[in-house]
Amino acid sequence: MEFEKIEKFVQKEYGINLSAYKSKQLIRRIENFMQRAGAKNEIDFITKLSSDSNLSKKFLDHLTINVSEFFRNKELFLDLEQKIKYYLRPEKNSLKIWSAACSIGAEPYTLAIIMDRLTPNKKHTIIATDIDQTILEVAKQGVYNKNEIRNVDDNTLNKYFTKKDDKFYISEDIKKRVTFKKHDLILDKYESGFDLIVCRNVVIYFTQETKNKIYQNFYNSLKPGGLLFVGATESIYNYKEFGYEKASTFIYRKPGGN
Ligand SMILES: C[S@@+](CC[C@H](N)C(=O)[O-])C[C@H]1O[C@@H](n2cnc3c(N)ncnc32)[C@H](O)[C@@H]1O
Repeated sequence: MEFEKIEKFVQKEYGINLSAYKSKQLIRRIENFMQRAGAKNEIDFITKLSSDSNLSKKFLDHLTINVSEFFRNKELFLDLEQKIKYYLRPEKNSLKIWSAACSIGAEPYTLAIIMDRLTPNKKHTIIATDIDQTILEVAKQGVYNKNEIRNVDDNTLNKYFTKKDDKFYISEDIKKRVTFKKHDLILDKYESGFDLIVCRNVVIYFTQETKNKIYQNFYNSLKPGGLLFVGATESIYNYKEFGYEKASTFIYRKPGGN
């Protein structure tokens, strides 16, 4: 496959730099999509994408894979809740939290629910970012299907969601606690001063070199004592290289703080 042609098109059209993504896996995904779109070759595929905005949108979704849900790997979120309580003392401190690669918003809204449970009525800052502007618009709507809320217990569901037809609407109170922004983990600058960074199920698509850069950037973005929470298949074997200590299998801590 003439990957460079697709790579150039994707960079120009969507502003996504594919060279940092794991290429074998990516090429397979692109080939599958091309086949389904009935494209004869790369040039034909690019022509199709350029003339069909619907197909182009689907391709972007396919590349970035937006699948997410509330309390994804529930037991790990329950562990996170305990670690927030223990290390970050939210009753004393107003926390700055970042959900990086937040997709449809289920992850930052889960964090907002957790913070409300830990400290009702206390204001924390939750920033949620993604490379994909379209998915950020979906996230801001805060409307979910049954599958995306399957890990939410009944009490939490009744308290924070309204059901209408077969959709679940997140409450306005939770919605207004999260600020959505576009951010590319590979190309953009990172904000700093975070107590907690949650980045799950995106670095699996990146090369080791890119992962290393991202983990180092997160470290620099954390306050001393801050926590990094990663995905259930993403434990960082070389965490010491960046300066982290381990708080649990999927939670890393920047030493220092009180
Ligand atoms: C599988 S979702 C993960 C959603 C959520 N974090 C979770 O674990 O449920 C991956 C998200 O990463 C985003 N993404 C892909 N490349 C990115 C990049 N370079 N910078 C920021 N977000 C990116 C995609 O748009 C997609 O929404």
